[in-house]
Amino acid sequence: MKILITGGAGFIGSHVVRKFVKKYPNYTIYNLDALTYAGNLENLKDIDSLPNYKFIKGDIADEMFIAKLFKEHMFDGVIHLAAESHVDRSIADPMAFVRTNVIGTVNLLNAFNCIWGEDFVNKKFYHVSTDEVYGSLGTEGLFTESTAYDPNSPYSASKASSDHFVRAYGETYGLPYVITNCSNNYGPYHFPEKLIPLFINNIIENKPLPVYGDGKYTRDWLFVEDHAAAIDLVFHKGKNHETYNIGGFNEWQNIDLVKLLCDVMDKKLSRPIGSSQKLISYVKDRPGHDLRYAIDASKINKELGWKPSVTFEEGLEKTVDWYLSNKEWLNHVTSGDYKEYYKNMYKQE
Ligand code: NAD
Ligand code: DAU
Repeated sequence: MKILITGGAGFIGSHVVRKFVKKYPNYTIYNLDALTYAGNLENLKDIDSLPNYKFIKGDIADEMFIAKLFKEHMFDGVIHLAAESHVDRSIADPMAFVRTNVIGTVNLLNAFNCIWGEDFVNKKFYHVSTDEVYGSLGTEGLFTESTAYDPNSPYSASKASSDHFVRAYGETYGLPYVITNCSNNYGPYHFPEKLIPLFINNIIENKPLPVYGDGKYTRDWLFVEDHAAAIDLVFHKGKNHETYNIGGFNEWQNIDLVKLLCDVMDKKLSRPIGSSQKLISYVKDRPGHDLRYAIDASKINKELGWKPSVTFEEGLEKTVDWYLSNKEWLNHVTSGDYKEYYKNMYKQE
């Protein structure tokens, strides 16, 4: 089986590539990634010499390149993770999100359709999406697979659009697809523009911790390896033309999570408890900030038997340990363009 994983040099993609390469030596895993600021081959250096792993540098928004690549390799399956993924960047530059998340996805769908025509036996197109397509919850309720789409940021609108295209290709051309919509991931190799790794890096460097608005926004956090396990399960056992929500059953208000993280960091860095909390600084809110995300993951749990394997406390501790033991990785990704991004975004060095 030849499987194309897009965005495999990114945060979640690298965990999915690692899982598939190690667990399925009979599959050939092709990792297609444009190596944007978020893509990093260092994330895969432990498996990149294995014989069933191949890296291809390329842009999913390049229609001709994608069409040629699919004809050359005749992929049996696609697991599509490549995306522009950061909400704040989508506010500053929406078109980059349209290009990769919408046009890039449609290019992949067309190329997959083109090579298999109507003969989709044993073929699968797996689209990895987000719970942000459902918009924002109030203080009550959960997102289910039938919650109406209501995206609020250019990022979530671009992901919602890509989901619609995947579903439409299933209805119109019979494309065999599955879609998963997952909540916030955290863990090793997470780029330090997102809340948890940004704050870990700032605590190490004794820099302010910029909490947006009143800090009462709520997210449902899932350890990244549990997401990769769910993707493995859905790819192999998920029903054709179905959507599955994936979540951590683990809601935290940002400010409570940040305080917990501060305490874990103080302990690990042997600093007096309370030192890192002094770095908390409330800053201007994100425009269109979604109040609350929370996933009802009972469908994947009941139908496929998936559930998270680690508690948040365990996962957070593993994550902190990983960052503290991988300072070289952190130094590499926070040098160069990152410094410019940070200065523009937070108006600080
Ligand atoms: P990421 O930003 O860490 O990685 C994205 C990867 O895609 C990078 O390696 C980047 O180089 C690559 N890429 C970007 N544009 C490309 C292009 N035009 N062509 C080829 N490659 C390109 O993202 P992530 O957090 O790992 O998210 C992966 C996927 O999972 C995304 O589709 C995202 O929407 C979805 N998702 C993320 C989360 C989360 O919490 N991070 C939760 C749910 C769903
Ligand atoms: O829900 C899934 C989504 O989770 C994914 O689809 C996205 O790709 C991923 O980036 C993530 O989106 P969020 O916007 O929820 O994640 P982020 O880490 O950017 O922010 C988490 C919360 O923390 C959010 O309420 C905004 C807040 N925040 C974030 C940053 C970067 C801060 O208060 N300060 C910050 O500096």
